Amino acid sequence: NWKLTNYIEKTVAEIKEKVGDNKVILGLSGGVDSSVAAVLIHKAIGDQLNCIFVDTGLLRKDEDKKVMENYGKHFQMNIKLVEASERFLSKLAGVGDPEEKRKIIGNEFVHLFDEESKKIEGAKFLAQGTIYPDVIESQSVKGPSAVIKSHHNVGGLPEEMEFELLEPLRELFKDEVRKVGEELGIPHELVYRHPFPGPGLGIRVLGEVDAEKVRILQEADDIFIEELYKNDLYEKVSQAFVVLLPVKSVGVMGDERTYEYTAVVRSANTIDFMTATWSRLPYEFLDTVSSRIINEVRGINRVAYDISSKPPATIEWE
Ligand code: XMP
Repeated sequence: NWKLTNYIEKTVAEIKEKVGDNKVILGLSGGVDSSVAAVLIHKAIGDQLNCIFVDTGLLRKDEDKKVMENYGKHFQMNIKLVEASERFLSKLAGVGDPEEKRKIIGNEFVHLFDEESKKIEGAKFLAQGTIYPDVIESQSVKGPSAVIKSHHNVGGLPEEMEFELLEPLRELFKDEVRKVGEELGIPHELVYRHPFPGPGLGIRVLGEVDAEKVRILQEADDIFIEELYKNDLYEKVSQAFVVLLPVKSVGVMGDERTYEYTAVVRSANTIDFMTATWSRLPYEFLDTVSSRIINEVRGINRVAYDISSKPPATIEWE
């Protein structure tokens, strides 16, 4: 691995040189790219790196704790956790349209990040986990001037934010980013996480989103992911998650009639996320997942498995 070690050493030296004794801000999302960028920059400049992690209330179960534990405690990075669940949920109240929800979540995120970064006095650089495919993508769509990509994929930060960009992963492909991450000591499991969309569970609770539905979905999703790991299937699929439908159906629990939500288990196999097939997960495995979700998650009494390919379906449901 001499090439990677070289890359890391070279990049760390470049970051030190470029940043000097200035401060750097980075929005940590828990995803692979921003995490690897953060650890790399932290290796170069330590506490001059100020991470901001926003809990939108639309993250996976215990994501805030995991991020603080892994990157705050283990890597001893300086991370500000911004608890903004209520702010996001109140903005989303009564909104059912997927694109509308995306817009609200994206705008809110940018505003919040803007507010928080202003509190970090004297920060000169904004670091981002932009990787090579992101660079290519934005060039083909909008030209090189639009290469700014917020870590939450919301399509750019406000113009008044006058930071110099620091993008140490700009030349790397995803598999190289993962190798760098492992070389830096980030646990394998974190470096090989599935992608997670910026709007998070906001687009996996179909239709109108509220705190109760998010809680139900987090519980169900956590069971599915846990079982995938336990059965050595997680890395055999490209993206897996649960979707909560706004549909209730009748069931029976003991002698009681129930009337609760339906959850859909979704797992896709893909190389480029442009086309995908549904994962042929074993029936026994699906049976375990379904039983556990129905027995352990209050609010769900029926589980369906999504057997649609992309196209014509998409990977997400919204
Ligand atoms: P679809 O549903 O379009 O998803 O087949 C393809 C990939 O894109 C992710 N995705 C998003 N990522 N913001 C994101 O950052 C979004 O609004 C968004 N919508 C879809 C999806 O999770 C999958 O990996």
